[in-house]
Amino acid sequence: MSSKSSAMDKEAERDVTIRRVKEEDIPKLVELYLKAYKGLEEYAYTHPKDVKSYMEWLVRRDPEGFLVAETGGKPVGFIGADANWFSRREGKLVGAVHEIVVDPEYRSRGIGKALMRSALDYFKKRGRDTAELWVGDKNTRAINFYKKLGFREEGRYNYWIRMKRGL
Ligand SMILES: CC(C)(COP(=O)(O)OP(=O)(O)OC[C@H]1O[C@@H](n2cnc3c(N)ncnc32)[C@H](O)[C@@H]1OP(=O)(O)O)[C@@H](O)C(=O)NCCC(=O)NCCS
Repeated sequence: MSSKSSAMDKEAERDVTIRRVKEEDIPKLVELYLKAYKGLEEYAYTHPKDVKSYMEWLVRRDPEGFLVAETGGKPVGFIGADANWFSRREGKLVGAVHEIVVDPEYRSRGIGKALMRSALDYFKKRGRDTAELWVGDKNTRAINFYKKLGFREEGRYNYWIRMKRGL
């Protein structure tokens, strides 16, 4: 890791807190999601009602793994991590990252990485040995981000790429 990125990680650790999502956070997370997916609409829900249903689904899937990053009381990113996911490709329960977003104004300062680290720690705590996710094949920013965090491409379905890593 370069000294620059480790300085950014320290900045994220100092200013950003990560905690479980509460029901009352959802309206703000819907706004954050819609803002974060501008330009990537082909891979996202675009109607606020659909995004809200999706957030509620994330809570139901795994309330312990749905985490929000805040700075100054403001949500700036979240991750929908699910330790109860049965992966058909793996034939076992894995840690699935269904969603990760960071507010465009707060990107490239280690917040996404801090959220992912919390999710991977949580998966390990739950006894999972593999993490998996699906990403749109033209979403190069996210693909590069996942590669830096140790994920590797492992097949695809239509325009979705499956990525995984050991824990
Ligand atoms: C993907 C996303 C969550 C990354 O969040 P972030 O907070 O900017 O990520 P970080 O700052 O923690 O970056 C982590 C690493 O990725 C790298 N990175 C960040 N932006 C990058 C970019 N545009 N291109 C290449 N690498 C990039 C950083 O340099 C950092 O590496 P380093 O620690 O070695 O310096 C964010 O870009 C996002 O919300 N994208 C839109 C939603 C989305 O596509 N989600 C994924 C759906 S599958």
